[in-house]
Amino acid sequence: MKQYIIGNWKMNGTLSEAQALARALVDHVQSATHSLPHIILCPPFPYLLPVWDILKDSPLEEGAQDCSPDAKGAFTGDVSVSQLRDVGCAYVIIGHSERRHHHQERSALLRQKIQAALQGGLIPVFCLGESAEDYKNGKVFEVLARQLREGLPEDIRGKSFLVAYEPVWAIGTGLTPTPEEIERVAAFLKQELGNDAVPLLYGGSVTAQNAQDFLSLPSVNGVLVGGASLKADEFWGIVASSR
Ligand code: PGA
Repeated sequence: MKQYIIGNWKMNGTLSEAQALARALVDHVQSATHSLPHIILCPPFPYLLPVWDILKDSPLEEGAQDCSPDAKGAFTGDVSVSQLRDVGCAYVIIGHSERRHHHQERSALLRQKIQAALQGGLIPVFCLGESAEDYKNGKVFEVLARQLREGLPEDIRGKSFLVAYEPVWAIGTGLTPTPEEIERVAAFLKQELGNDAVPLLYGGSVTAQNAQDFLSLPSVNGVLVGGASLKADEFWGIVASSR
C-alpha cells in the first residue's frame, strides 16, 4: 500500500506563511526523483482555498482538521463536508485529541462526523490514542478497542477511511512509544478492524530524524505530523523517509 504522510498545521501561521509552505512543498514534489506517498496538507480553515490554489495542479492533496456532523443550517462557526469539498479537501481529520479535550468531543459525535464525511465524499482520518495515565496503567489496548468500537459507525466496513494512532502523551511532547510498541498497537488495531486494507498511521512527535523508525514498521502505513509539518524541509525529510 502506498504510504500516507499527513501534515496537520493546526492553528498556526499566517496566510502568506501558509502559501509559502505550500509552494515550497510543490517545488520539492516537482524535483522529486523517488516515487511519492500520498501527501496531504491540512491547513486552518481560512487557508484551505488559497493553499488549494497552489496544490491543485500537483499530486499534493488537501484535508481539513475537522468538520460539522450536519449538512447545513444554523450552526454558527461550523463548516460542512460539502463546503470543505468545495475548497479542495479530499480528507478530514476527525477525533484529534485536541478536539476531544478542548471541545469535549465524544465518540457519539465523532461517529456522526465520520458518517457525514463518508456520505459527503470525504475520506475520514479517525484519530485515537490513550492518555499518559492509561499508558502507565497498561490499559492501551483496552482504551483503543473502546475508542474504535464507539467512534466508528457500525456500517464502516468496506468504506474508505484511515485510522491514526496518536497517544495523547506523545503529541507535541517530543516523546514517542518505541517502534516495537507502535507495531504491536498498529497490528492490534488492524486485527480489531478486521481489515488489512485500512491504512493505519502513527502520530505524535514525528520528525525527519525518527520518521523512518515508524514508516519502516510492517503494520504502519504512514504518519500524521503536527509541529514538524510547519517547516518545508523538515516535512520533506519525513516524506523522503516513506517507502
Ligand atoms: P506533533 O502533533 O507531531 O506536533 O506531536 C501530531 C498531531 O497532533 O497530529
